[in-house]
Amino acid sequence: MPPKTTTEEAGPLNLLRPLLLLSYSTYYLIPTIWNLLINLQLATFLSFSDFKDAWFARFWAFFGPLSRENAAPSVIPLIQNSAQGVCLDIGPGTGQWLYLFERANNPTITKIYGIEPNPGMHSILRENAVKANLGGIYEAIGCGAEELQTKGGIQKESIDTIITVQCLCSIPTPELIIRELFPLLKPGGKWLVFEHVRTKYQGDFVGYWQSKCIGVALWSVHDRC
Ligand SMILES: C[S@@+](CC[C@H](N)C(=O)[O-])C[C@H]1O[C@@H](n2cnc3c(N)ncnc32)[C@H](O)[C@@H]1O
Repeated sequence: MPPKTTTEEAGPLNLLRPLLLLSYSTYYLIPTIWNLLINLQLATFLSFSDFKDAWFARFWAFFGPLSRENAAPSVIPLIQNSAQGVCLDIGPGTGQWLYLFERANNPTITKIYGIEPNPGMHSILRENAVKANLGGIYEAIGCGAEELQTKGGIQKESIDTIITVQCLCSIPTPELIIRELFPLLKPGGKWLVFEHVRTKYQGDFVGYWQSKCIGVALWSVHDRC
């Protein structure tokens, strides 16, 4: 029998995590608004999409490290030192997993494109790339994964490794993105994936609760796909 995950060990109280997450994210409205006001970034209030990006970047600076702690036991053996050649790092956020591609342990990586549409993440993302000694080969590109061939200039069959860690859940059309990304891989290339999955407890309250929370918070169930 496989060992219990930290979320299973937490028991039924784990079902409250989506509510906790919603409370935290709501709370982060306050510092987001305050920060935009004191930095006179008033134009951000005029676009819901820009405001949402600023809000999520601030929230993720707090919540990202917590989610990393929870996901690390699965993510580390999956992606540590597994990337090679030219890499596409999709939705890296603040780059909190970049240490797993640390230059000294990954000499075969020649380039990493960090595809992060939220500009609020870019400064910390670049800092984390430098910390992992990837500064010279890490390039943050401010577009969505769906725009890679148009805005990102990425050609078909040009990528050795695609990395998607906890990001397909943030993309409204994951199936479409998967179909668009796959042709970018060279034949024999690899795709390192770690995403949230549906709970195995389908047909009871847990499955029902998760389906109600989809799109809001799926941090309650992590597994390797
Ligand atoms: C839940 S965060 C995870 C960040 C990072 N992968 C991690 O594990 O810390 C999801 C990330 O996906 C990014 N994202 C959202 N839509 C995207 C898209 N269309 N293409 C690429 N990334 C996207 C978000 O901006 C965000 O940084």
